[in-house]
Amino acid sequence: MNLLKFIDKLPLPRVLQPVRVKDGIKYYEVTMTEFHQSLHSSMPKTRVWGYEHTYPGPVIEVSKGERIRVKWINDLPSKHFLPIDKTVHGAGKDTPEVRTVVHLHGGITPADSDGYPDAWFTNGFKQVGPFFEQEVYEYENLQDATTLWYHDHAIGITRLNIYAGLAGYYLIRSKHEQSLNLPKDKYEIPLLLQDRTFNKDGSLYYPKKEADDPTNIYPSIVAKFMGENILVNGKVWPYLEVEPRKYRFRLINGSNARYYKIRLDSNQPFYQIGTDGGLLEEPVTIKSIILGPAERADVIIDFSSQKHNKIVLINDAKDEFPEDPKINQSNTRFIMQFRVTLPLLSNDTSTIPPKLTDINFYKEQEAIRTRHLELIAQDDQYGRRIRLLDYKTWDDPITEKPALNDIEIWSLSNPTTGGHPIHLHLVKFQILDKQLFDVEHYEKTKQIKYISERMPPAANDHGWKDVINVFHGETARIIAKFAPYTGRFVWHCHILEHEDYEMMRPFDVVIRKEQSRLKKLIYNKTWSHIFKNT
Ligand code: C2O
Ligand code: CU
Ligand code: CU
Repeated sequence: MNLLKFIDKLPLPRVLQPVRVKDGIKYYEVTMTEFHQSLHSSMPKTRVWGYEHTYPGPVIEVSKGERIRVKWINDLPSKHFLPIDKTVHGAGKDTPEVRTVVHLHGGITPADSDGYPDAWFTNGFKQVGPFFEQEVYEYENLQDATTLWYHDHAIGITRLNIYAGLAGYYLIRSKHEQSLNLPKDKYEIPLLLQDRTFNKDGSLYYPKKEADDPTNIYPSIVAKFMGENILVNGKVWPYLEVEPRKYRFRLINGSNARYYKIRLDSNQPFYQIGTDGGLLEEPVTIKSIILGPAERADVIIDFSSQKHNKIVLINDAKDEFPEDPKINQSNTRFIMQFRVTLPLLSNDTSTIPPKLTDINFYKEQEAIRTRHLELIAQDDQYGRRIRLLDYKTWDDPITEKPALNDIEIWSLSNPTTGGHPIHLHLVKFQILDKQLFDVEHYEKTKQIKYISERMPPAANDHGWKDVINVFHGETARIIAKFAPYTGRFVWHCHILEHEDYEMMRPFDVVIRKEQSRLKKLIYNKTWSHIFKNT
């Protein structure tokens, strides 16, 4: 299907209102349904799944420190319209086909509201997964202002549920952020980048089997799926009319597997002001930005010298990113168009402050341990590729058990050919460095032999992150503090086809023995002076 570019307006998702406020706590209800929506004006409507009858879902907007409750309700059909692979963990014959559970990506959320993959539920909560705990989730929103997104996380079918449309924005605001005088209201725009392929009738295409699949399993998990059309906020190659002034864009890469390397064809820079987890210390003037699956970028674009111009947001990354260094020449090179055609309504008094915030950077010496973890690809029993975290599957015993408040370094090494955007729940982390190692040597000996110096992150990665891109032959070291909640969380590759097929592991944040002893002591007043001094 050859769809014309830049003929549909960019849709702007509405902000969700709570159904009630009780004891000062906003309570929302969000229902997942199946419906048909126009994704391009020259294509028949497409069957999608969405939150609150819209794809992408409505924006949930909160203030830092504002506690909210959300009841996520599944009102979906019992049959999936995309091909389920029942050999994939958690998607077997005995489980209901359509399961959902909602995760707030980047949210620092208690375990019982985090959307654990086995905490799924079906339509009307008729059936629930083994880890299901509660119908209503609570978000404390104690973290700094940033761009989060909520999306489905059901075990074994996350790639299909998100591809069907189950994703939406969640913005945390703060007084500090407001004080910065950034472009706001209609000059602040969410841009959710996704890729989809369509059948001739406008329905969503998702492959059942890889072309070279050696098995007779049908349907069958694929290594990764990339769509032929780029959608922003649920429209294929849209355009946005803008005034000649500054705008703030909240970008999310919500694609299953695609990397983007964005730039503007006007050759203007972006002023990047934020990463996954919040504001950068200072704005970074940058011509192109890499966005791996689930990564976010908070950017300002200044259109003031572009009156009457049309500017295209370009994607330089080819499907095999970064292994294929050639510039993308296919349709997926285009993302959307900005038309600087609106008159300037009033003087642009917004600013790009030279100083945005202070980040408390962890020091390497503060880390209590380093975990060396390898990102692995093997063949499964059917001869298909399967990707693992440190040679372990989802069901293997839990090996990552940081104690509450511990600072740890996770050193992630990738000898596989593709890149892996690795995501941790619960924490925001910082990137310490990357280092190259000898992959051939690794293949022979399973030993990491470094062949480069440690390289610090780029200026626009020098902030709070919850996704780290680990490319072929790289070791990336991240540092995080495992707080403020104990319980069971997950870490995984955010290429959804990898996540669904074993590249996901649970981790536990535990109370260490000494910690629980201290906790008891704390109630003993005679010992209280000890704690004053520690
Ligand atoms: Cu965006 Cu565990 O996911
Ligand atoms: Cu997450
Ligand atoms: Cu991966």
